[in-house]
Amino acid sequence: MDKRKGIFITLEGCEGVGKSTQLKLLKEYLASTGQEAVFTREPGGSVISEQIRAVLLSPENSAMNPVTEALLYAAARAQNVREVIQPAINAGKLVICDRFLDSSLAYQGYARKLGFERIYDINRYALDGLMPDYTVFIDLSPAAAFRSKAKSESLNDRIEHESAEFHEAVYRGYGKLADTSPDRFIRIIPQSEKTKTAESIVEALKSRGVIK
Ligand code: TYD
Repeated sequence: MDKRKGIFITLEGCEGVGKSTQLKLLKEYLASTGQEAVFTREPGGSVISEQIRAVLLSPENSAMNPVTEALLYAAARAQNVREVIQPAINAGKLVICDRFLDSSLAYQGYARKLGFERIYDINRYALDGLMPDYTVFIDLSPAAAFRSKAKSESLNDRIEHESAEFHEAVYRGYGKLADTSPDRFIRIIPQSEKTKTAESIVEALKSRGVIK
């Protein structure tokens, strides 16, 4: 008997672009239309990966080497893929992951300058052949995102503490990835109305047959 195969969607973007809000709105849309989906996130998604996340994001670990960082993101991913994502896809489910491989490519590969090739190499074991079917990329530069961010919001984790130049490099990295994989990347330009942005995401996923 043929194995049922689910769909794997990832959501990507720079810090402060409203990714969490959009995930929440997408979750609400799916729930209100009676569609099932498994939501997970990176780094994290499983108990072990959440422990790796704590090491990665702790501001105390400012001495972490970029290679260590890349390997830890891949280690967290390896567990999430095997424990959460792949089993759900094999069961025919829709899986939506908040950040995935493209985060490693943009942050560690491009902004930390390890290079895309090295990040693909490091992640080969972690992915075990799995790639997102579609990647929703919230296409907003960090400068624009920071301008619209409430002044009261503080910087919490080690990566958020990086310089503005670092975050601009992440954004350029994403741009290159989106240009190289135009069939996989769905570019979403955020609008001032969050619900309008959410509608664009829903429409984009509907038109590709991912959701109804
Ligand atoms: P998180 O609080 O989840 O950020 P956000 O709300 O913006 O998604 O923290 C995850 C941080 O880890 C974020 O700064 C991006 C970074 N990251 C990498 O550098 N590489 C990776 O492979 C992943 C998955 C995340």
